[in-house]
Amino acid sequence: MQKSHKPINATITAVGMYVPEKILDNKYFESIVDTSDEWITTRTGIKERRILENGGTSFMAVEAIKDLMKNFPLNPEEIDLIIVATITPDMFFPSTACLIQEKIGAKNAWGFDLSAACSGFLFALQTAASFIESGRYKKILVVGADKMSSITDYTDRNNCILFGDAASVVLVEPIEDLNYGIKDSILYCDGSGKDTLYMKAGGSLFPASQETVANRWHYIYQDGKTVFKAAVKGMADVSYEIMKRNNLTSDDIAYLVPHQANMRIIDATAERMGISRDKVMINIDRYGNTTAATIPLCLTEYYKAGKLKKGDNLILSAFGAGYTWGAIYLTWSLD
Ligand code: COA
Repeated sequence: MQKSHKPINATITAVGMYVPEKILDNKYFESIVDTSDEWITTRTGIKERRILENGGTSFMAVEAIKDLMKNFPLNPEEIDLIIVATITPDMFFPSTACLIQEKIGAKNAWGFDLSAACSGFLFALQTAASFIESGRYKKILVVGADKMSSITDYTDRNNCILFGDAASVVLVEPIEDLNYGIKDSILYCDGSGKDTLYMKAGGSLFPASQETVANRWHYIYQDGKTVFKAAVKGMADVSYEIMKRNNLTSDDIAYLVPHQANMRIIDATAERMGISRDKVMINIDRYGNTTAATIPLCLTEYYKAGKLKKGDNLILSAFGAGYTWGAIYLTWSLD
């Protein structure tokens, strides 16, 4: 069937980020649980993470959007759609997208939250790309934001050292030059991973009660070892799969932009792709795992540092709870 409009790609035309000021370093964790800077550094690659003391995820998202608007011209009234990837919304409802819409004055936008844990940004970016490719929408904000400290049990040494809070945002718009923009995506989910990484209570199955609070069911539960193995395989396989499908060699790729959960997962993915460390975006040492925010945070930091150039081929790759995982291949179009 013929398409009713000219073929177009979706591309990232602006970026922004926000990280809270408060830092929890590994030394701090030595004082609250039985751990050490050495253990955390060698097992995860994390040295410190940021924690939001007041406010919710929408606060961080709005700050990230303000950062975007400071550096790129954008009239909020021109925004068509706001997609917020998060598993820590301010509230179950209204959606974080609605809260953001009001705060930034995006009077003509609609929006929704998208729940895919650490793969949230990739799922949201592909969703935005499909809306753009349909020809119907022109300016979509894709936010990846999580206040992981709000669901982290700081008595559980297995998990509390891993997570941090942050928000980042990209603007997605159409581009007629098909040499640029989002060119391919491979996304998966597999609910057989549901028992290895979850927050048990607070939903319709286990609404909040004295029992759920006493059992600490409102915090992240994770079987780290099982998730680690699944993540190494999932992220490495899908990143390799998207390279092969697009006939890309490691020389064609400027950067792997991996979800920042564990440095060893990142290294395994890069190794499978034949990509050296200097071509891998990394900031896990400073922020830990910020769930939906990790990938746009990397893009924003590398772009602002002048390390990301027009024409760079990127492979974005993530794995998270669900399980959810995937990869996106795009060519950077910003000067
Ligand atoms: N400090 C010191 N020791 C710790 C610790 C900490 N913070 N956390 C766990 N340990 C202990 C364990 O209790 C275990 O002790 P035991 O052998 O006496 O039982 C030992 O260290 C080794 O634990 P193990 O689970 O084998 O460590 P690991 O090498 O698998 O690393 C994770 C643990 C959590 C870092 C790792 O499994 C991981 O990164 N998993 C994936 C997490 C993730 O990224 N999830 C998000 C979605 S992708």
